[in-house]
Amino acid sequence: MAIVSFWCLLIYMYALLHWRYIADGAKHFSPSGCQLVSKVAHCRYLQLTSIPQDLPSDIQELLVDHNNVKSLDEESLLRYPELNNLSLKSNHLGHKDLNAFMDTSKPESLSLQNNTIFTKYTLISLALRSALSLRWLDLSRNAINEDMLTTFFPNLTSLEYLNLDNNVIMRLDKSSFEGLRNLKELSLQRNYIYEIEIGTFDNLVNLKTLNLAFNLLPCIVDFGLTKLQMLNLSYNQIEWFFSREDDIEFQLQKLDISHNQLLFFPFLPQNHHLHTLLLSDNKMKFYSKHFDKNSSFADFLILGNNQSQITTVYLWDNFTLSNLSNLNVLDISRNQFDYLPANFLPAMTSMSYLKLNWNCLETFDLSSKHITSNLTFLDLSNSRLSEISFEEPSSNLHQLRYLNLSQNRLQELPRQIFSTMNSLSTLDLSYNLISLCSTSTSIVGHQNCVDLRNIQSLEYLRLSGCGLQLDKQDIFLGTTLTHLDVSYNQLKSIDFLQNSANMLKCLSLRNSLYSVNNIDFSKFQSLTSLDISENNITTFPRSLMDLNLQCLDLHENKLTSIPISSPYQPLVKSLNTIYLSRNSFDCCKLSWYDILTTSNSINIPDVKQITCNFSHNYMSVQELPESVIHSCHWRNGGTLLSLVLSLPTCLTLLVAFILLFLLFKQPLLKKFKKHFRTSSSY
Ligand SMILES: *[C@@H]1O[C@H](CO)[C@@H](O)[C@H](O)[C@H]1NC(C)=O
Ligand SMILES: *[C@@H]1O[C@H](CO)[C@@H](O)[C@H](O)[C@H]1NC(C)=O
Ligand SMILES: *[C@@H]1O[C@H](CO)[C@@H](O)[C@H](O)[C@H]1NC(C)=O
Ligand SMILES: *[C@@H]1O[C@H](CO)[C@@H](O)[C@H](O)[C@H]1NC(C)=O
Ligand SMILES: *[C@@H]1O[C@H](CO)[C@@H](O)[C@H](O)[C@H]1NC(C)=O
Ligand SMILES: *[C@@H]1O[C@H](CO)[C@@H](O)[C@H](O)[C@H]1NC(C)=O
Ligand SMILES: *[C@@H]1O[C@H](CO)[C@@H](O)[C@H](O)[C@H]1NC(C)=O
Ligand SMILES: *[C@@H]1O[C@H](CO)[C@@H](O)[C@H](O)[C@H]1NC(C)=O
Ligand SMILES: *[C@@H]1O[C@H](CO)[C@@H](O)[C@H](O)[C@H]1NC(C)=O
Ligand SMILES: *[C@@H]1O[C@H](CO)[C@@H](O)[C@H](O)[C@H]1NC(C)=O
Ligand SMILES: *[C@@H]1O[C@H](CO)[C@@H](O)[C@H](O)[C@H]1NC(C)=O
Ligand SMILES: *[C@@H]1O[C@H](CO)[C@@H](O)[C@H](O)[C@H]1NC(C)=O
Repeated sequence: MAIVSFWCLLIYMYALLHWRYIADGAKHFSPSGCQLVSKVAHCRYLQLTSIPQDLPSDIQELLVDHNNVKSLDEESLLRYPELNNLSLKSNHLGHKDLNAFMDTSKPESLSLQNNTIFTKYTLISLALRSALSLRWLDLSRNAINEDMLTTFFPNLTSLEYLNLDNNVIMRLDKSSFEGLRNLKELSLQRNYIYEIEIGTFDNLVNLKTLNLAFNLLPCIVDFGLTKLQMLNLSYNQIEWFFSREDDIEFQLQKLDISHNQLLFFPFLPQNHHLHTLLLSDNKMKFYSKHFDKNSSFADFLILGNNQSQITTVYLWDNFTLSNLSNLNVLDISRNQFDYLPANFLPAMTSMSYLKLNWNCLETFDLSSKHITSNLTFLDLSNSRLSEISFEEPSSNLHQLRYLNLSQNRLQELPRQIFSTMNSLSTLDLSYNLISLCSTSTSIVGHQNCVDLRNIQSLEYLRLSGCGLQLDKQDIFLGTTLTHLDVSYNQLKSIDFLQNSANMLKCLSLRNSLYSVNNIDFSKFQSLTSLDISENNITTFPRSLMDLNLQCLDLHENKLTSIPISSPYQPLVKSLNTIYLSRNSFDCCKLSWYDILTTSNSINIPDVKQITCNFSHNYMSVQELPESVIHSCHWRNGGTLLSLVLSLPTCLTLLVAFILLFLLFKQPLLKKFKKHFRTSSSY
């Protein structure tokens, strides 16, 4: 009895400690299932039909998303006078009056995302009239159209943030946002807006951020939002961006018109603060080289409320009027630029991040008169470049850290091009047919080689598909490469890596080891990621077993087995990802596979595609038929061994049976005879 009560006491103490522990973590649950973390109640996915009434009355934030709350009334929130933030995303609100609710509690932030409130939208507009302290409102995903909009915000002067994403608004005019004098941020993404009347945003004198991405706007012809700092117009159908022609200072800092149909570089305000201009995925190019400067102009007919105005723009001259000297980031990738005017880049004296990739530039000038010294990132990939010009000695590329020249038609580069880039850490020269300089090539007098030696800052280098036939050359002498990609080349050996071997962390040799087998990786002690896929390798390099690789790609080779015999080998312990599909594994030698798949820390993304070979048939290792497993057992001697072991038992049983048979032989024989006789009487 004493022992029983002792145990009870222990259990009680344990329960007490457990409760204390939860309470100390400031994280516990209410009877209705809400999780309480300091003054926030998380009541998501609880199938609640009303606001829970069992929470501490001092909560400040209540998240009731994804429930079945159908109505709110005066009492719903009376219990929580300190409530600031209420989120009711994805409920079925919409049938009862919100008015009283707004009157009694004065939330600062309210999310009604994805409800059906707007089947009776007049109710919400009534309710919003009394929401005098609301600063943050999310009405996204509610099928709101432009007519409802005009009734919502007649006097909502407290509102600073408004989200109307994913609705069905088609046009905006002066009445849309009339009372939102203090609005700072407005998001209208993913609507069907094709028209914005002049004056729509006139009342929003404090608007700083406007997001109109994913709409149907065809052009912006009179951009006049002088207070706006950030404008997102991406994913529309804009062909023209044309700003008002006056001396007013625009606060605009960030402009995103990517993924549109722009034909011309946008006509920006003359006086602005732009530092980020994103114009990728358009159809822009410059025309003055192709046409007579004087004849390339466009007339704009701007229709106001009751007056119209014609403005003539000289496509080249007027563009140059804009002062881009503060621009830091310019992305004009994926356009149709076939040249850049001589004073285009030099005017951008603060430029640090420049993306010009996927155009048709053909040549590019890296000289100091053309490129500013603040440049740290330059992407010129896939731009049909066949020539890079560079005046020696140019010394303004000290800051450049990233240079991408991949997928061009370069066969040579100016000899000293990298000598002044003493911050360059990432270089991509893939898919250009170049050759690399080494000590031996310079003796032979190979003039066209690209010299990568002694770029001390270089860490990431990609030389994929460059037609390199490397053997023993010391092409990376004096570099401290950690990431190297030499895939899709024709390497005769990997001796050219001898200087870099102990520093390399990631190495890709995919599809580049022609008739190279049995590679020795023992010097690559820092390697964590290795790709030797698509190489026809027949034997697993033994030296890999002692490396601490995290990622190993072996797909598309001719491996028959992997010498893994224990989960405690260094390679098995360190691995977290391995690719193994499309090899010639032997179905009867898969013990390595079992070790890899039973390890919890190893991920095999292509595990479904791993096949093995059994009598010239390829089958999935994951779904190996029982018959194959049995046959392998037999072949491996497993069945034979058990047969040998069970033979004595079988013999004993057999003898016993014969003895029994002999013992009952007489009566049995008689019985048989009798039976035979009776049946034959028919
Ligand atoms: C209320 O919501 C706003 C906007 O989401 C947030 O900035 C603020 O921190 C929240 N306040 C509380 C008390 O959770
Ligand atoms: C919107 O709410 C409905 C149920 O009210 C839910 O099924 C749906 O997944 C929600 N959609 C999103 C995008 O949250
Ligand atoms: C807006 O508020 C002002 C005073 O704050 C009031 O005079 C006016 O009538 C209100 N307008 C509407 C449409 O409610
Ligand atoms: C503009 O909006 C798009 C779509 O939501 C987004 O991907 C992009 O990052 C935004 N641009 C900026 C500068 O924030
Ligand atoms: C363009 O017009 C200017 C005067 O407006 C003239 O001086 C110049 O010669 C013209 N250029 C061409 C190519 O016609
Ligand atoms: C528009 O027309 C009205 C009369 O129809 C006139 O009073 C008003 O000044 C005009 N506005 C402009 C900008 O011309
Ligand atoms: C375009 O430039 C011409 C002169 O080159 C000037 O007369 C005209 O006002 C400018 N237009 C705009 C919109 O800047
Ligand atoms: C451009 O603006 C900067 C200051 O923002 C000023 O120093 C520079 O002189 C301007 N350049 C031109 C050509 O107006
Ligand atoms: C650009 O570089 C110069 C010196 O090369 C420096 O004085 C200036 O502050 C830099 N500008 C920016 C915006 O980084
Ligand atoms: C270089 O550009 C190509 C094509 O645009 C891209 O695929 C590659 O990832 C870039 N290289 C680096 C190192 O970012
Ligand atoms: C691998 O073998 C295939 C077929 O024999 C051949 O086409 C391919 O070039 C070989 N690849 C390498 C890297 O040796
Ligand atoms: C498949 O395995 C058999 C032995 O089971 C072997 O003789 C044959 O060469 C293998 N075929 C391939 C393509 O590896």
